[in-house]
Amino acid sequence: MTGVVLAIETSCDETASAVVDGRRILSSIVASQAELHSVYGGVVPEVAARHHLTTVNAVVDEALREAGVSLNDIARIAVTRRPGLIGALLVGVATAKALAYATGKDLVMVDHLHGHIAAVWLEPLSLDAPFVALTASGGHTRIDLVDDYATPQLLGQTLDDAAGEAIDKGARLLGIPYPGGPGLEALAREGDPTAFDFPVGLRGRGPGLDFSYAGVKTALLYVARDLGDEGTTARRADLAASYQEAIVRPLADRLMRAAEIHGVPAVSIGGGVAANGRLRHLVEEGAASRGLRVAIPDRSLCTDNAAMIGAAAAFSPAIPWPRYVGEDAIATAPPGGIAA
Ligand code: KG4
Ligand code: ZN
Repeated sequence: MTGVVLAIETSCDETASAVVDGRRILSSIVASQAELHSVYGGVVPEVAARHHLTTVNAVVDEALREAGVSLNDIARIAVTRRPGLIGALLVGVATAKALAYATGKDLVMVDHLHGHIAAVWLEPLSLDAPFVALTASGGHTRIDLVDDYATPQLLGQTLDDAAGEAIDKGARLLGIPYPGGPGLEALAREGDPTAFDFPVGLRGRGPGLDFSYAGVKTALLYVARDLGDEGTTARRADLAASYQEAIVRPLADRLMRAAEIHGVPAVSIGGGVAANGRLRHLVEEGAASRGLRVAIPDRSLCTDNAAMIGAAAAFSPAIPWPRYVGEDAIATAPPGGIAA
């Protein structure tokens, strides 16, 4: 085992730090900026970066305190290097580099998506490979074959918008504040998911594992326009339920299809959209009917957190002190997916 890891995550609008000992989470602190961005209807990169800067030290201190460890007890430091908002990422990377350099420790630079996948490695789920993993967040929607945790292989991904992006935009249209996911889910519970027949992306187009969410977003826009303001308000719950269904059902369907095609015994979900109760139910149901094991992380480990970065660090190469000093944050994902 690699010893106790201090992890830092600042890729978007959560300032997070965690202490992880192998599969065990000793602490996981998340300071969300969501309320700060809500007035703008989405994340403002400059605001995010500035807020990370004023918060990150306190969040790291709190993670160490709650874990009952000091920096001396930490074997390695891990940080999200990519993908994300560059200014936001830079704050985490600079903090991690400084802490690691000052204490003579090695640094692990982790891919955010690798983190979402590795969340199910942690206790109490403790899922072992092989399995297929669905990752659905604000910026990404993909399925990977995880033969081993170090090298997830991309099987399919969205060809346009991410599922979370479609959820946030649809929610906004229905008057739900950013981030739209939790509000859309709450409203959908009061509605009928069969009330509106929204297009399900790439439905019937062969056995592929890709996704498309641009169409359903536009469809909601047209339906709302036809209903008018009053009509849309009257049918808000039905619209939310039908829209949510059109987004989460293909996620569950493709994940099951991927498991069948690749003959793996287990499936997992991760990323913020995996906090969605309807998706969690569909995945549980689909897995049970096929005799598959299923790993669904606690909601707090689906949305952005640093414990998952600590988990991915166990499967990523450490850069020895002090060779990481010249390393940088990177805004984009590498072609095809996840950087080791
Ligand atoms: O993984 P995440 O926290 O950040 C990114 O890496 O993007 O995912 C954020 C996304 C947002 O689009 C948010 O609306 C969505 O996850 N989300 C949800 C729920 N909670 C968060 N979507 C549906 N239902 C939820 N309960
Ligand atoms: Zn994320």
